[in-house]
Formats: sequence, C-alpha cells, structure tokens
Amino acid sequence: MSLTREQGKTIGLVPTMGALHEGHLSLIAKAKNECDVVVVSIFVNPTQFGAGEDFDRYPRDFEKDRLLLERSEVDYLFYPSTEEIYPVGEMIEFKLPSDLLDWGCAKSRPGHFEGVVRVCAKLFNIITPHKVYFGQKDYQQAVIVKSLISDLDFGIEMKICPTVREVDGLAMSSRNRGLSREGREKAKMIYKALQARDSSILDGLDVEYWEERDGVLLIAVKIDGVRLIDNIVL
Ligand code: PAF
Repeated sequence: MSLTREQGKTIGLVPTMGALHEGHLSLIAKAKNECDVVVVSIFVNPTQFGAGEDFDRYPRDFEKDRLLLERSEVDYLFYPSTEEIYPVGEMIEFKLPSDLLDWGCAKSRPGHFEGVVRVCAKLFNIITPHKVYFGQKDYQQAVIVKSLISDLDFGIEMKICPTVREVDGLAMSSRNRGLSREGREKAKMIYKALQARDSSILDGLDVEYWEERDGVLLIAVKIDGVRLIDNIVL
C-alpha cells in the first residue's frame, strides 16, 4: 500500500470480520466515493472474543464475501490467516482507560475492546489507510477506535456511517444469521423499543444493558443465544 500512498492516492479501509451484509456494502460504497483505492479486510479476530463467546460459531462465508466484493469493485481484499496477524503470539498488552470501559459492552465482555484495538492497530499499520469506515451500530467500538487513532497519532480520518436496517428496523449484523424464525420476530422489537425510548417493550427478553451515554441510547440483548446490539442518537 505504501506505493499507492507515494502515488498520492487516497486509501480507504473497511475492516470487517466477513459474513458481509448491506451494512458493510454501504461502508464500501462510501469509501469508494471518497477514496482512490478501497481495501476491505476480512479477519475473524480471535483476540476480541472471550472464553465461551461465539468465535467458533461466528458466521464465515468467504466465497460469498469474495463475490460480493468483486461485484462491489473493491480494489483489494486483505484476508490474512491468524498466524499472519499474530505470528509471535501475545506480546504487547493494550490497557484502555476506564472511561472507555465502564459502560456498554465492555462491562460484560472483558478484553473485547483490547482485542479490537490490537487488531485495528495492526490493520492500520499494514494497510496504511488515509480513511477508515466503521458503522454506528458498534457505537462503543467507534468511540474506542477513534481514541486509538488520536492517542497513537495514526493520522487516519475516521468515518462513522449510519446503521443500515432491515425493513422492520432490525440493525443489520452478521450475527442475525444465527436467529431462529421466532428469534428474528423478537429481534425486531429492539429498534421499536429504542425508537419509543421504552425498554418495557422488551419485557421477557434477556436484556444485557439499556443505557444512555453522551446522548446515545444503547442496548444489548441476547436472543437464541445470539448477542445483538443497537443504539439510537437521542
Ligand atoms: O466490527 C468488526 O467487524 C470488528 O470488530 C473489527 C472492527 C473488524 C475488528 O476486528
């Protein structure tokens, strides 16, 4: 990528864990609009999954993803192996400040965001993007990656793009594939509850948190053992 940089071209990176959906495609479309060269990474990052989480069950569909990226005319796909990203095992420990971790998903996913910043730092150094594209659905992730970029002077512009939703409002997510038909019906209540600012709409569901942070109302719910997150700007 450094040659591309030297040629004065703008590089946009869309980091993903694959199982691509319309949400990813909207990030790619924005990147294509704003950059000369677009790179999509697909890497199911083991360090951001805790013990007992869904690393093994996380949906993987590389051939379909590759076709989608080809159709979207993405310039480069970065699809590294775990050994390529973590050749020497665990080395540097990231320690995030408590104000990034005392809310939202961090409370129930210890180590998750440390794993996210670890892999993002690597992807940013490998791909050297000018701009990176993240979705608003993963709000806390976006806040933390923004801090990573400014704290470590990556000099990258971060674009946080609107959540793409199904017709009934469910935020698009690779994990939605794990929902049963009944679970999918229940899942549409998440956005309805956010819109109504009324968590009682979710009575009977396994709501992990419902909290407000800096004018954003955030939620995580488990349905069929699938952890779904969403948020709305108040
Ligand atoms: O949001 C995701 O898909 C992942 O957390 C990311 C940013 C690709 C890092 O593994």
